Amino acid sequence: MRVSNLLTTAALAAGFFVTQGSAFAADAQKGKTAYAKYGCWQCHGYLGQGGGAGPKLAPEPMPLVALVPFLRHTNGAMPPYMEPVLSDADIADIQAYLASIPKPADYKSIPLLNQ
Ligand code: HEC
Repeated sequence: MRVSNLLTTAALAAGFFVTQGSAFAADAQKGKTAYAKYGCWQCHGYLGQGGGAGPKLAPEPMPLVALVPFLRHTNGAMPPYMEPVLSDADIADIQAYLASIPKPADYKSIPLLNQ
């Protein structure tokens, strides 16, 4: 039990440092492709708006330092994505894509919703 806790901590720390390195090369356009390729859209919607199966991811997505460990270790309703399947660089691109999605218009600026 203690050893596995240590391993998890080491893995999280390693993910943190690797993530810092790849963050500079993150590319939102490549991230959009990866988001489609790895099927994130199936549960979270093409714009990360949330869907039947998964919660909203954008705008204002989880920061990269939290996203990498989440994707590697999630054990809830969402399947984990391990390194051989989804690289840290792909995750950085996906995060950049999610961060590039604009916020929707304020409802106060839409006349029909203010009658
Ligand atoms: C099979 C459906 C499914 C797929 C495919 C999927 N997710 Fe999820 N995701 C979920 C569900 C359900 C949750 C909420 C429950 C949980 O935390 O496990 C979640 C939670 C998340 C969260 C946490 C959101 C928050 O605010 O706590 C992030 C970030 C996320 N997913 C990103 C991704 C990314 C990126 C991909 C593609 C690499 C992906 N997901 C693919 C179903 C999915």
